[in-house]
Order: sequence, then structure tokens, then C-alpha cells
Amino acid sequence: MTGSRESSRSPGRRRQVSDRLTLFRLETSQAPGGFAEDVRIGLSRSPKKLPPRLLYDSLGSILFDAITLVPEYYLTRAESEILETSSGDLVDCLPSPLRLIELGSGSSTKTKFLIEAILKRQGSLRYLPIDVSESALEKSSRELLTAFPGLSITGFVSDYQRALDYLAKEERSPDGTHNLVLFLGSSIGNLNAASALGLLEEVRRALAPGEHFLLGADLKKDQGELLAAYDDTLGITRAFTLNLLVRINRELGGEFDITQFDYKVRYDVSLGRVEAYLVSRKAQKVPIRELSLEVSFEAGESIHTESSHKYDLDQLSTLATRGGFRFQRHWLDSGCRFSENLLEAVPAAP
Ligand code: AVI
Repeated sequence: MTGSRESSRSPGRRRQVSDRLTLFRLETSQAPGGFAEDVRIGLSRSPKKLPPRLLYDSLGSILFDAITLVPEYYLTRAESEILETSSGDLVDCLPSPLRLIELGSGSSTKTKFLIEAILKRQGSLRYLPIDVSESALEKSSRELLTAFPGLSITGFVSDYQRALDYLAKEERSPDGTHNLVLFLGSSIGNLNAASALGLLEEVRRALAPGEHFLLGADLKKDQGELLAAYDDTLGITRAFTLNLLVRINRELGGEFDITQFDYKVRYDVSLGRVEAYLVSRKAQKVPIRELSLEVSFEAGESIHTESSHKYDLDQLSTLATRGGFRFQRHWLDSGCRFSENLLEAVPAAP
């Protein structure tokens, strides 16, 4: 390992952490104003709605990691099972050598099964994880580099739109190397239909025809099982969601009394999605000092905090086709609850 050094290189900041680890911080493509503006807009509209990305401050990220361990939240275990048992099979479906790009890599826990399978075949691998949290990216990268001597990592501290754009323009893979982009964890489920299609189109633009996209997506199933996954008996998901009000209090001088809000989930059958809400227990007015705003709630009025869309394989295949991909193959866990979907980029229509 060499010492950490920083240098500036347009369009972001580059940090050579070691001979096998480089981190880039890219300028964000998000609107200026950030958290404060998102909260102002979300709590001023009717019905009230806040973007789910706001749930992930440092405590929110820890609570989400805890969610992945609660008995009712089957998604992470099901996806890990697929990757643990099928990574070899999956890699056999792809050309060699591969370069691996991951959107929203987080702790990269599930990715290690794929990395292991790829390294078994090609001996060395360049992995390009993309995450908004620099600390998570550096921590997970260091762990992976210790576990896999054949690995080298270029990480991007960025939202995935900005990083995909950068990769397409500045970091195209070396000749003959085949890109595999990962978007795991059913994060696609937190996007509405238009944004999900937009994501596929962005990934497609970053790939050459014949390259691949691996998409983890939770499947439609019994409503009781779905609702339990988002309202666990330990109350971790409730805490994860209420933490958004705590975050507003801390970062924006809000005066939310969280004992005066309930957490509720419902399944919308026609939209195929679990919806999460914070519901005001009484009529109340909540000042938010930094926004010079007072938010009024009627008794029973809700803030929509998150939607988790559930797919069936036909919908995934249609989404793939519309996004410029061929739905090549899918794998399910033993309980048939979760799907890992391999999509191949098709040539753009003339
Ligand atoms: C990150 N995302 C895929 C999770 C989901 O299942 O929608 C977020 C989550 N929210 C509550 N529980 C899990």
C-alpha cells in the first residue's frame, strides 16, 4: 500500500488511496439546495411527500443495514442466496475479460460472490463501485482488496447518473474488456415507472451493444408477507422512517415531536407497490427554523416517505426491452421471492 494523496482532475477530485485503490469524488448532478430544498418542496406540497433518498443520513444508513437483518425483510437474504449459489453460472453466460461497475454499491456484501466467481475465471479484475458515501466506499473497498489480491478498485463518490455519464465519456473500458453493470438490492423498486425506465436508458447509454446489466428486483407476492417486510415487529423500519423527522430537526432546526407521528404501510395493488407513510396523530403546526417555514398538519394527515415497487418477470422483460436491452436470463432464490435479471444491451435503432 502507498500513502494517500490527493490531486485535482476535472471534473471532480481524485484520491490515490493505494496502488490498488483510487477514489474519485464527482460533482453531483443534483439540484442546488440539497436536503433543505427537498424538505421545503416536499412539505409544502399537497399531499406531502419526501424523496426516499433523504432517509439515508449516517443514522438512516445504519438503520437500513439493520433492516436487512430483521426476520421479515427477506430481500437481502434472498438476493445473497441467488448470488452465492449462481454467480459461477452467471459469469459463464458472459464474455471474458469482464470489468465490473456497481451502482449504489454500499457495503458491497453481496457483490463479493460475483467478484470471487469472476476472479476464478480471469485472475484479475477492475471493480468500479459508485456510491454517495465516501466513507462506505472506502471501507468496503479496503475490505474487498484485503480479501481479493487480484482486485483493483476505482471508486466513484457520486450519484449514479453523474458517474454513468463520466464512465461513458471518460472511462470507457479498454479494448476487448466487457462491462457488467450491477444494480442490486431491488433499489429499482424505489423508482417510479418513468424513473426506472430512465435508469435503464442511462445504463444502456454507458454500455456498448452486447455488454450486460444485472438487475436485482423484488417480486410481487402475498400482501401479508410484503407488508411485514416493511413493518417489522422490532420496529426497525419504523425507526428508519421516523429518523427522517429527527434529521429535519437536527439539520434544519425543525421541531417535530416524533411521538406525535405514526408509521403506516399499505400495498397498492394496481401500482404493485408498498407505500410507507408518517401520519400525524393530531392537528399540529411544526416550525422549521432554517426554512423559515411552519408546516401545518391535520389529524391523520400523512407524509409519503417511500414506495417499493414489486415486479413480475413479464414486467421486467418489458422494462428491459423498452430500455434498450434483451432480457437474457433470470435466477430466483429457493423461495421464488426475489429475481436477479441479466440484460444484454442491444444496438440502438438507426
Ligand atoms: C433500498 N430499498 C431497496 C429498500 C426497499 O426495500 O425498498 C429500502 C427499504 N425501506 C424500508 N425497508 C427497506
